[in-house]
Amino acid sequence: MQIGPYTLDNNLIVAPMAGVTDRPFRQLCRRMGAGLAVSEMLSSNPQVWKTSKSMNRMDHLGETGIRAVQIAGADPDLMAEAAAYNEKNGAQIIDINMGCPAKKVNKKMAGSALMQYPDLVEQIVKSVVKAVNVPVTLKTRTGWNTDNRNGVEIAKIAERNGIQSLAIHGRTRACMYKGHAEYDIIREIKDYISIPVIANGDIDSPEKAKEVLEYTNADGLMIGRAAQGRPWIFREIDHYLRTGEYLAAPDKEEVRGILLEHVINLHQLYGEVLGPRIARKHVGWYLQDQDTDKSFRKLFNAIESGNEQLDALNKYFEFE
Ligand SMILES: Cc1cc2nc3c(=O)[nH]c(=O)nc-3n(C[C@H](O)[C@H](O)[C@H](O)COP(=O)(O)O)c2cc1C
Repeated sequence: MQIGPYTLDNNLIVAPMAGVTDRPFRQLCRRMGAGLAVSEMLSSNPQVWKTSKSMNRMDHLGETGIRAVQIAGADPDLMAEAAAYNEKNGAQIIDINMGCPAKKVNKKMAGSALMQYPDLVEQIVKSVVKAVNVPVTLKTRTGWNTDNRNGVEIAKIAERNGIQSLAIHGRTRACMYKGHAEYDIIREIKDYISIPVIANGDIDSPEKAKEVLEYTNADGLMIGRAAQGRPWIFREIDHYLRTGEYLAAPDKEEVRGILLEHVINLHQLYGEVLGPRIARKHVGWYLQDQDTDKSFRKLFNAIESGNEQLDALNKYFEFE
């Protein structure tokens, strides 16, 4: 798959997830077979760029692969400024967030709320595309609510104003994360535009990936929640799409190696206090199918120190 000048290793993309797709997670997913990983959204409000939260989100130290940075906001000038700032900071793709239904984001009329205002969408897209030399991509939902599935209209606006690929989450804003994603609008959008279309929503297995690709005729797939605690899902899907065969799940030793490396990287990025706290949620995801009575996670969540977390994980894998 091609986005502007970049040829991706494959057409599987890690969905931007605030609080999840930080540099350690993006790097891990890339190594486990994702063709591209999009950063957590960054606010277009310059007043927050120097907070430690934003600084961590903007961290690309040693990041290999294509650095795709997502920005969120509703003011065309501020969005342009944020895009230029992130380009200077190393972004090689700027992704505009029009998919996030979070109240915090929508209160400021950004994210998927923007889909209600096609004229404003056009202004934002124009302004961001003009502000940078790197490709600009867009992430939307299928519409504002089930009566206003204007995904096709937004897709056309995106294409004619220079957006280089479009990811669509198969839900409306009003659907939040409820029900099942539906792929009809994505399939329709694919008929109307010729830039790459990326289907997103509820893709959690190799079979589902194949089904969605075939149904929508999309050029690529974006995967979010199914990769939490399971970053190897990318190589599993990639293998299945290429060969029609299943790749064996990682054995215990490999999972241990992946998890320990992930946790160490989180400690390094976030430091001695925040690092162990952020590691807890990832460890919870990795172990949710094994630690069924949550006894280990209860113990693990009470640990404050990074080194003690590593010791506890090592013991867990030795004795399980
Ligand atoms: C914890 C979490 C954080 C998210 N943060 C963002 C975000 O920052 N930007 C965005 O465009 N979408 C965000 N999303 C939406 C995902 O990118 C994706 O569209 C959605 O989860 C559906 O894909 P999935 O079913 O594969 O998870 C977030 C989703 C989750 C679960």
